[in-house]
Amino acid sequence: MGTIVITGSAGGIGQSTRERLYRDGKEVIGVDIRNAEVIADLSTPEGRNAMIGAVAATSGGRIDGLVAGAGITGPDPQQVVSINYFGAVATVEGLRPLLAQGTDSSAIAISSNSSTTLVSLPEGLVDACLNDDEEQARELAGADPGTAYATSKLALARWTRRTAIGADWIGSGIRLNAVAPGLIDTPLVADNIDMIMNLGDVYPIPQNRPGRPAEVANLLAFLLSPDASFFCGSVVFMDGGNDAALNADAWPTTNTTADRWPVGD
Ligand SMILES: NC(=O)c1ccc[n+]([C@@H]2O[C@H](COP(=O)([O-])OP(=O)(O)OC[C@H]3O[C@@H](n4cnc5c(N)ncnc54)[C@H](O)[C@@H]3O)[C@@H](O)[C@H]2O)c1
Repeated sequence: MGTIVITGSAGGIGQSTRERLYRDGKEVIGVDIRNAEVIADLSTPEGRNAMIGAVAATSGGRIDGLVAGAGITGPDPQQVVSINYFGAVATVEGLRPLLAQGTDSSAIAISSNSSTTLVSLPEGLVDACLNDDEEQARELAGADPGTAYATSKLALARWTRRTAIGADWIGSGIRLNAVAPGLIDTPLVADNIDMIMNLGDVYPIPQNRPGRPAEVANLLAFLLSPDASFFCGSVVFMDGGNDAALNADAWPTTNTTADRWPVGD
């Protein structure tokens, strides 16, 4: 059977993932500020703690999968950082003990390809997030919700990579990964889709359309399943070619292993 928790379950991607998982015979516990089994506001520590208690009670203390998908794009940059980064991290960390009781457990954070397709993301804000300093992160969130959004999603992807490889996660048999969708046709971006599709070379989408929530749901269902048993700390982009079009030759950017190899003089 399998029990999966989805935060942001009332939204475009969350709802579509819920429908997909139902078809696969899963039980879903939705978390959202509206229209969900567990109503919780993940922007505050109190709301996050209440959510963890309510999910523990609803699930009987055991879940097999988690999608941390609650997120906003604005208008308040501080709320963007609090929900997208600190809400997601508190969700993943807080529900880990329940995942530890599950079978083939898998958790996925929803990041975004804005982490590689927007310019000048402030590293100070990334560091404040990764240092778990919500007060400082909110101070550094700046005035532009778009920058706060992309930076919160970059921090979430880095946190996922750091965390996934640890004793509490893959060392305990629990997979943790992230997905980085590009433009997906959901209420989150409904007002801006036409504008974004017309950005041309600034934001090229080789497939020439937004993604569908069901396409993200397919990827999430795969990553939740035992078929994805060797995924650990991956950040899986799905964006119609957007990141490849902008950054094809920038990959790989992260091979820092040269000094470790005992070769040469
Ligand atoms: N749509 C896109 O283009 C796109 C692209 C990349 C990443 N994402 C990410 O995917 C995730 C899902 O987005 P979506 O497109 O389905 O958006 P959506 O707005 O349709 O859904 C987001 C859900 O999060 C919930 N939510 C917002 N604030 C909350 C809070 N404080 N506590 C609990 N729940 C809260 C909303 O009520 C909503 O149901 C988000 O994290 C978003 O950043 C979306």
